[in-house]
Amino acid sequence: MSYRVLVLISRLNEYRLDNHSIVPNALLHAGHQVSVGDIETLGIRDSTVICDLFALDREYRDGVPFPDLKLQTASAEDFDIVWVLTNPHPTLLLDAFQLLWVLNQRVPFVNDASALLFLNSKITLPAAVDREHLPTSYVSNSFDALNEVVSADENESWVLKPSNEGCGSDVYIVSLKTKNSRALLQSTTGNEICRYEMYGRPTIGLSRKYVTMQRYVPNVVDNEKRVMLSGGVPFCGFRRFHHELDHRGNVTLGNAFEGLQLTPEEDHFCRALGQSLMDQGVYFAGIDLAYPYVLELNLANPGGLNYSFRATGRDQSSEAIELLFAALEAKGRLRPRRTERVASAAANAERSCDMEVTL
Ligand SMILES: Nc1ncnc2c1ncn2[C@@H]1O[C@H](COP(=O)(O)OP(=O)(O)O)[C@@H](O)[C@H]1O
Ligand SMILES: [Mg+2]
Repeated sequence: MSYRVLVLISRLNEYRLDNHSIVPNALLHAGHQVSVGDIETLGIRDSTVICDLFALDREYRDGVPFPDLKLQTASAEDFDIVWVLTNPHPTLLLDAFQLLWVLNQRVPFVNDASALLFLNSKITLPAAVDREHLPTSYVSNSFDALNEVVSADENESWVLKPSNEGCGSDVYIVSLKTKNSRALLQSTTGNEICRYEMYGRPTIGLSRKYVTMQRYVPNVVDNEKRVMLSGGVPFCGFRRFHHELDHRGNVTLGNAFEGLQLTPEEDHFCRALGQSLMDQGVYFAGIDLAYPYVLELNLANPGGLNYSFRATGRDQSSEAIELLFAALEAKGRLRPRRTERVASAAANAERSCDMEVTL
C-alpha cells in the first residue's frame, strides 16, 4: 500500500549521502508520496501543526542544492506517517518537541515523539536495555560521587559522555591512573569547585552538569558494531575499527569501517531488542553494540545505510523501507486512509444495512 509520508529534516545547503536523502529517495522508490519538511519551521496555525515542506518529485543525489524555492508552509497533519530524521536545534529543543508531540497525537510517527525525546539519550538506556546488556553506568552531576567510583578500583577505566551529544563529542576515558581524570570529572560535572571559588555561588548560580559514566568495555576495540534496526529487524550496519590513537570508534571521526556481520548471538539479541523498542514506539534505530553490551541507542538520525553502502556497495534502503512498513502495518500503527475508511465503511454498510457506521 502507498502512504503519504512526511520526513522532517533540518535544512542543509545541499543533499548529502545520508538519511536525509537516502530515506526520502527510498520512500519515493517504494511508491509512497513523500514530502520533506524543515523541522526548524514547525509551528501551529489555528490549531493545526504546520511546517515548511515540499513534495518530493524525484530522487535527489548528494551534492544537489536543497530546493529552497519549493518550500511552502503547509499542514504537517495531512500525512499517514511522520518520520523525524533529525534532532531539533538545541535553541528550539523543548518547543519543537512539544510541537512534535502535538503532531504525534494526530499522526503516527516512525519513532514516537516521546521516544525521540526520552529514549534518544544515554541517561535513559536502562529504560530500554536490560541491565546485563549495559556496562555498569552512573548518571550524576556530582564530581564527588563519580570520583568515589573511579577511586574505588585503580584497575578500572570509565568512559565519560555527555548524555545528549553524539559523534564522539566530549567522550573521555578516565581512570585512577591518569592525572587528567579528576579534571575531566570536574569539567564534565560543571566545575563546581572552581567556579564557586572564582565567582561565588550567589553570582554564578548553580554550576553543575549531568554526565553519564560507563565502565570501559575492553572488547570494544575488537568488536564494535553499529547495527541498524528497521521494523525490529537488524538488517544492515557496519563494523567499526578504532584508530590506534583514539578510544572512540565513531566513523564521523575518520575511523575505518567495513560491512556488518552479526554472530547468531548478536543477531538474536538485536531482534529481541528490536521487538521491545517497537513496544516503546521505536521502529527505526541504530544500536552501538560491543556485544554483550549496548553502548548507546541512536534514534533520530542513525548513520548506517550510508556507511554500509560505502563499505559493501549494497544499497539496502529499499529493504529498510519494506521492513519498516511491514512492521508498522502488522502492529496496526498505520491507519487506513480516510478515503479507504469511507470505502470500507460503505462496504460494511452494504453487508449489514442495520449496522450504524461512524466515520
Ligand atoms: N563504555 C564504553 N567502553 C568502551 N568504549 C566506549 C564506551 N562507550 C563509548 N565508547 C567509545 O566511544 C564511542 C562514542 O561513544 P557513544 O556512547 O557511542 O557516544 P556518541 O553519541 O558520541 O557516539 C563509541 O563508539 C565507542 O567507540
Ligand atoms: Mg555512538
